[in-house]
Amino acid sequence: MTNLNVAIFGCSGAIGKALCIEYTKKQNIDNIIAYSRSGENFENDLIKSIKVDYCNEESLSNASSSLQFKLDIIIVAIGALENPEKSIKDLSAQKFLDMFNANTIPTALIAKYFLPCLHRDKTTKFASISARVGSIEDNELGGWYSYRASKSALNMILKGLSIEQKRSNKNSIIFGLHPGTVNSKLSRPFQKKDKEYFSPEFSANKLIDVIDTKTTDDNGKIFAWDNKSIPY
Ligand SMILES: NC(=O)c1ccc[n+]([C@@H]2O[C@H](COP(=O)([O-])OP(=O)(O)OC[C@H]3O[C@@H](n4cnc5c(N)ncnc54)[C@H](OP(=O)(O)O)[C@@H]3O)[C@@H](O)[C@H]2O)c1
Repeated sequence: MTNLNVAIFGCSGAIGKALCIEYTKKQNIDNIIAYSRSGENFENDLIKSIKVDYCNEESLSNASSSLQFKLDIIIVAIGALENPEKSIKDLSAQKFLDMFNANTIPTALIAKYFLPCLHRDKTTKFASISARVGSIEDNELGGWYSYRASKSALNMILKGLSIEQKRSNKNSIIFGLHPGTVNSKLSRPFQKKDKEYFSPEFSANKLIDVIDTKTTDDNGKIFAWDNKSIPY
């Protein structure tokens, strides 16, 4: 893929920001649109920063209709993990809603307003950062009910989108990503002293490589930073 227009959401976060910067170092990029809630400024000619509220449909509609060109790649790097439940006794309705508002709903709404901004006549990619703990089959430890459920629901949204979008572009590829365990605001409260964490730059480069390799055979699936598939 050459002369790519890439849109990245969640660009004030560690991984979203690193994805923007690492994409500027690639040869095949024409434009990077960096969406964030804060209007993160990159001071780089390839990156255009746009402020958007991911859960506000008017904000997303305005942002998508102001795009001047079609997109090749959309990446969503939005999410939160706060006070994960050790036991079902720790769950509250509010915590559950907060996790869905951060981890599930933004991707669904971004898809609603930005899938029509993708090319229809060539290969396009839409990826959202999920998490290995969203895998139902892979869940050996339990706990973290609301975060796990919000990422499992995200995976279902991606699966549905992968089926629907193929009807308007047979070369559309929609998939989920697991970034590894990355040093960020999200992971910091859970980090252990004796464990090593990926830098956001390392993870972003791995994810860019994964995105590069995806073909229509990968539509609707979830992949980790090392390009290994993660079961639903
Ligand atoms: N770090 C890890 O080890 C790890 C592991 C597995 C999966 N992930 C996933 O990777 C993605 C990026 O995480 P990160 O590590 O880069 O974390 P981060 O630095 O905390 O960034 C999180 C991003 O999500 C946005 N966000 C947080 N809460 C939100 C809410 N309620 N509504 C809308 N936006 C919200 C933040 O926007 P603002 O800056 O505007 O607040 C920020 O852009 C997330 O989906 C996370 O679940 C991370």
